Amino acid sequence: MKLTLKIWRQKNNKAKGELKTYPIDGIEGDMSFLEMLDVLNEELINKGDEPVVFDHDCREGICGSCSLQINGEPHGPDRLVTTCQLHMRMFKDGDTITIEPFRANAFPVIKDLMVDRSSFERIQQAGGYVSVNTSGNTIDANAIPVNKQDADDSFNAATCIGCGACVAACKNASAMLFTAAKVSQFALLPQGKVEATERVLNMVAQMDKEGFGNCTNTGACEIECPKGISLENIARMNREYLSASLKG
Ligand code: SF4
Ligand code: FES
Repeated sequence: MKLTLKIWRQKNNKAKGELKTYPIDGIEGDMSFLEMLDVLNEELINKGDEPVVFDHDCREGICGSCSLQINGEPHGPDRLVTTCQLHMRMFKDGDTITIEPFRANAFPVIKDLMVDRSSFERIQQAGGYVSVNTSGNTIDANAIPVNKQDADDSFNAATCIGCGACVAACKNASAMLFTAAKVSQFALLPQGKVEATERVLNMVAQMDKEGFGNCTNTGACEIECPKGISLENIARMNREYLSASLKG
């Protein structure tokens, strides 16, 4: 395939960025989107030009770092896949593909297509954990009975990889789906009940402090989420937040 790439280039956080056009040839349908960018970068390096900076690590849909806005959609046109799992067969010969970083005030651009998503880490640090007694009388987790439905819902919430597509898809740049997934994975389990009140209050407060927008129930986050995290988690977090506020 021959393609035309329009790629966001930005030297650093302070510099003004712009879309630059790069023609590319010899792209196979079986290549992943990141492999296609590898081909472009090899060409740029061979010409003595600066390669395009983009984030990636696992390249198998686990780490959540490959955050690219492709033709206006986080992770591109396919569903339930990350950018690293997106195949070039989703595009056709002659296509023009626009590639931008995820856009949100809380995700400042570091360089080109790479953004700083440490705001997500600070939300997790505010309460996305359970405290475990390691003083010698630890309770075996398997000894605590958990309702099957709750275990399944908790597991599904825990599959959130923190990629930020939900934020990039949202017209308000809201982080509600991400935060709700991280609250839900513990709220559903007995082990998570102990710190439930402070967890939801602290995580929502941190989310607001980071500058994410409000949720207006458009549902774009659920559609673009590569892990299929359900809006039900947002409803659960709202219930948790209400009951925590009444207690607090
Ligand atoms: S909820 Fe989905 S889109 Fe949002 S960070 Fe988690 S995996 Fe990514
Ligand atoms: S590189 Fe890890 S999810 Fe894409």
